Amino acid sequence: MSPTNTQHSGVAATVDDGQVRERDRRFVWHPWSPVGESGADRPILVSGDGYRVRDTTGREYLDAVASAMNSSCGYAHPALIAAAERQLSLLPNFDLSAGSHVPAGQIAERLAALLPDGLDRTLLLNSGSEATEAAVRIAHDHWRNVGRPRSRIVTFAAGYHGSTLVAQHLSGLPTNAIYGAEPFPVTRVDLPVAAGEVRAPRSLPLLLEAFERAVLDGPPPAAVFVESLLNVGGGVVLPEGFLRGLRELCDRSGALLVLDEVFCGFGRTGRMFGFEHDGVTPDLVTMSKGLSGGYVPLAALSTTEAVYQSFVADPLLGGLRYGHTTGGHAVACAVAVAVLDVIEEQQLVAASASLGRELLAGLLPLLDHPEVSDVRGLGLVATVECHRSEFAAELVAAARRRGVLLRAQGRSAMAIPPLVIDQGGIVELALTIGQALADC
Ligand SMILES: Cc1ncc(COP(=O)(O)O)c(C=O)c1O
Repeated sequence: MSPTNTQHSGVAATVDDGQVRERDRRFVWHPWSPVGESGADRPILVSGDGYRVRDTTGREYLDAVASAMNSSCGYAHPALIAAAERQLSLLPNFDLSAGSHVPAGQIAERLAALLPDGLDRTLLLNSGSEATEAAVRIAHDHWRNVGRPRSRIVTFAAGYHGSTLVAQHLSGLPTNAIYGAEPFPVTRVDLPVAAGEVRAPRSLPLLLEAFERAVLDGPPPAAVFVESLLNVGGGVVLPEGFLRGLRELCDRSGALLVLDEVFCGFGRTGRMFGFEHDGVTPDLVTMSKGLSGGYVPLAALSTTEAVYQSFVADPLLGGLRYGHTTGGHAVACAVAVAVLDVIEEQQLVAASASLGRELLAGLLPLLDHPEVSDVRGLGLVATVECHRSEFAAELVAAARRRGVLLRAQGRSAMAIPPLVIDQGGIVELALTIGQALADC
């Protein structure tokens, strides 16, 4: 194939698709991908602008996977590029265990202002998985610090909290099963009804009963650890009142409530944080993805002063024995501050709520298709659940042929566009998914 000029956002790059594809096939180990696949179906992207990306052949796509579900402000946002460049030229980073840097305090202060009162203390990391890892350690160590050790974690079997060993151990999803020994006890709660029925008010008591049994049977848990919408579990929307019920249950049992906002945080579900739909305050909250919008890796864990202060009693350090070389990287923190400015200035949370409603309304007629079992959504997370995973994969492939990137997640095809998508993009997205369904 002849070289393509991939003009995007004023930046020109000449790319030879065949050469790039062959190099990728020979040298790159792609995560979560079957070994030996030809790679012929894999889009190799060169540039992006707003909610569109362009591949090595010059073909443009509407990116309804938001890269790794983390592009909040879209591609080539000048304010985010400027923030990264400014910080890179000042100071790329400095180790937060030995010193500090200006953007660390800035982003931690901004998060404290956005989160419910009392969650003022923030640990900065690189990835959602690290935030999970840290949250489990903090929960375990907190109970040791206060002299009443607890180690059990209660969570959703269909939850996903990352792919480090600890994070995978929390999940009951088949692809997350880890080898052999149990590093700590986990009680994984199965959904008591089908994924498509979970959000119905009648499912609330069933769900809460299942968690009550899990929390109260057995040793007192260190923490209850959940997402406010089960993302990898199939875009499962939880019933209103569930997190409030879980908060009460945690208060009764003393367990810490850890809410994973890695996916839901920063406007994805039409609120700044997913747990705002239920008005609860967790004891720990983990964040990543939309926080730095995919420009640079960043994660954060915020908690209460009580949890933080308990670490004075750590027997070896009098503090948290956890951290990474690039955790809370200064460029990432500076970009995150700019992301929060963009989210505020462009009113992306409100846009996510209203455009999400439009997207869902555009997709609901697909329920008439015999292969579709449910259509659901919250904010800019829309899920078309199919009876068969093969059909969901076909639907995603058909949408791709029509210029839209969707996420295949088991029996679901999910649309998770950048929050900067506009009304025209939403109409195009809903229309294309409908056409793709007709193609299958
Ligand atoms: C809810 C949730 N938690 C944690 C993670 C893990 O984040 P990361 O992939 O940055 O390690 C993800 C990733 O998809 C996620 O969706």
